[in-house]
Amino acid sequence: MKLVILGGGGFRVPLVYRALLADRSPGRVTEVVLHDLDASRLAAIGGVLAELAADISDAPSVTTSTDLDEALRGADFVFSAIRVGGLAGRAADERVAAGCGVLGQETVGAGGVAYGLRTVPVAIDIARRISVHAPDAWVINFTNPAGMVTEAMSAHLGNRVIGICDSPVGLGRRVARAVGVELEDAWLDYAGLNHLGWLRGIHVQGRDLLPDLLSDAGRLESFEEGKLFGAEWLRTLGAIPNEYLHYYYFNREAVEAGASRGAFLLEQQKQFYAAPSYESWDRTRLEREQTYMAETRDEERDNDDLDGGGYEQIALALMHAIASDKRATLILNVPNRTTLSCLDADAIVEVPSLVDANGARPVAVSQVPDEGVGLVTALKVVERATIRAAISGERAHAVKALALHPLVASVNVARKIVDAHPFLAEVFRS
Ligand code: G6P
Ligand code: MN
Repeated sequence: MKLVILGGGGFRVPLVYRALLADRSPGRVTEVVLHDLDASRLAAIGGVLAELAADISDAPSVTTSTDLDEALRGADFVFSAIRVGGLAGRAADERVAAGCGVLGQETVGAGGVAYGLRTVPVAIDIARRISVHAPDAWVINFTNPAGMVTEAMSAHLGNRVIGICDSPVGLGRRVARAVGVELEDAWLDYAGLNHLGWLRGIHVQGRDLLPDLLSDAGRLESFEEGKLFGAEWLRTLGAIPNEYLHYYYFNREAVEAGASRGAFLLEQQKQFYAAPSYESWDRTRLEREQTYMAETRDEERDNDDLDGGGYEQIALALMHAIASDKRATLILNVPNRTTLSCLDADAIVEVPSLVDANGARPVAVSQVPDEGVGLVTALKVVERATIRAAISGERAHAVKALALHPLVASVNVARKIVDAHPFLAEVFRS
């Protein structure tokens, strides 16, 4: 089983490899190819993987390549986990947005649109090459903004591309713990778009445990989302929003807190890549997790809320279900078909999906809550305007995507962002 990781020099790749090493199942990955444009980052991560595999006799083989077409040949699975423009690009997205008085965040608001404008053309090129060199491969897209990028790639790869994110299952895990059940025993009634979804129920043995949880402020505020949103607001909603909705429901506060995550990570990772080793990778990773979303709160994240088993476990579970045709239910980014009635059939949505050798199919859920429908439909318009602008290079569409984003909400600010952003100003000249 051959797995190709695009963005193979990326900081999170050792998480994936560690999950592969722990995998004892018969159809497990035996061959890993790391592809990256940057040979020195490939060498750094390759070295960390070699340390991880040191005493393990049947560890998956690892090779590295900077040639995409060559890397793709014969792939069973392709993970796309690239960051176009690197962390410097993220820092610019966040800084420029914040400088124009709006939220400066990686995937939400103006930052997410800027990131999408930069990423979509690259993702489409990758999708085209996969369809030529590895037409039978399943493509797992981690590349952010994951919903938008999956939608752009799906125009070329159809159902062969599936988007993943660790935030819905992280939410599910925390809620399951709060109500005292095993995540595996629970049905998560979750619906929305990537980084814009709501948990509307957690069903165990035919009973929804969410109403009880909502009525218990102590238990509710014992985990990440409860602390972020507060029991009263969660009760008002009657649902638990994805943590990224904090940027919408507490937008003024988030804007005020400013943006420095990208700049912080850039500095942190420079140090790691300058002197890479497993030890420094692990230390850096831990610090990164502890400070995740810290700008929205003044305390550190709870250890319980840090639990691993996010991103890499979803990827692994997805590959297992496809490769061994063992049906699993995972919250994934897939074409809507008729799942969410507020969106058309081709829209990529983030919902529980059945996965087997035929890929992933969405399952009927309780829709997005009424007060979320406006956000979800507005964001789908923004995503599509972004894709269109990215493909055509038309400034008007880039401005449209930014201006229509509810967290920008101004044509003037949208124009200012395009002109002030080093990448956007270059590509979308007036
Ligand atoms: C979660 C999200 C990802 C996002 C990441 C940011 O894992 O699901 O989509 O990229 O957090 O974390 P960072 O440490 O880079 O701020
Ligand atoms: Mn995500």
